Amino acid sequence: MSSKPFKAVIPAAGLGTRFLPATKAMPKEMLPVVDKPAIQYVVEEATQSGIEDILIIIGRNKNNLSNHFDSVPELESNLLKKGDRQRLQKVQESTDLADIHFVRQGEPKGLGHAVLRARSHVGDSPFAVLLGDDLIDERDPLLTTMLAEHERTGAAIIALLEVDPDHIHMYGAAAVEPTDAEGVVRVSALVEKPAKEDAPSNLAVIGRYVLPPSIFEILERTEPGKGGEIQLTDALQEMAADPDGPGVYGVVFRGRRYDTGDRLDYIKAIVQLAADREDLGPDLRPWFKEFAATL
Ligand code: UTP
Repeated sequence: MSSKPFKAVIPAAGLGTRFLPATKAMPKEMLPVVDKPAIQYVVEEATQSGIEDILIIIGRNKNNLSNHFDSVPELESNLLKKGDRQRLQKVQESTDLADIHFVRQGEPKGLGHAVLRARSHVGDSPFAVLLGDDLIDERDPLLTTMLAEHERTGAAIIALLEVDPDHIHMYGAAAVEPTDAEGVVRVSALVEKPAKEDAPSNLAVIGRYVLPPSIFEILERTEPGKGGEIQLTDALQEMAADPDGPGVYGVVFRGRRYDTGDRLDYIKAIVQLAADREDLGPDLRPWFKEFAATL
């Protein structure tokens, strides 16, 4: 078990084909959710769990992603000259968030391959993985619970969400057994994107993981699986099936999650988050009610 601070890895090198053409020249993790790119919410979530060292895995179109976490002297001096301190603060927020590093995934060979690219940065310590297009509402802390669960068990910890059985084919699905801990299950098997009739349960793997470093050795030898990609789920399945390994546990999440890589969920996320905000909610909510009445 670790006493070193955790590092976080955020894979953001996927092709984002569901969002074309918006993602032709921009990673989907940079799509704005109200007024911040999705990935900024994810970085903020990691820092709120106490993680200060973050590695982002980037692919093609890397520049606008890394630029977002850099300072922009021209823009900043312009806002300073105008005395617009509020906007200046917004610009500087993403620069001061954390110690952010980048590494390239040469080719998008899958999430497992992207995580393997973090090996030399992470070293021999457990680490967190947060998917850059999967937002967890800050009012429902999930990662903090998962980190604590890892400290307690030393196991790989995944996040599970109960989904409609008709949607399980879009996720990894988990076969689970109860444990004594409230909201925590032991994962005995995992299947990537199963057909509804083959799914071991309707508990879907969502984009938060706390992984022991032994995952890297498994990923090294994991063959391409579903979609011809090296799947993190397949490596976790091997870990779950190994009686001598650290094991895999699932934290069942019952809070608010927004999948910004999917167009419909992305639209829902913006409406929900904006309706809750003090600066936009009071105008948006009555407009939305009126609009909904016309549907
Ligand atoms: P997804 O399957 O949701 O991303 O991967 P995608 O392939 O970009 O999306 P579509 O289906 O084509 O629209 C889950 C996460 O893993 C990252 C993605 O950026 C996303 O955060 N990923 C995926 C990588 O970093 N590299 C890969 O090779 C694949």
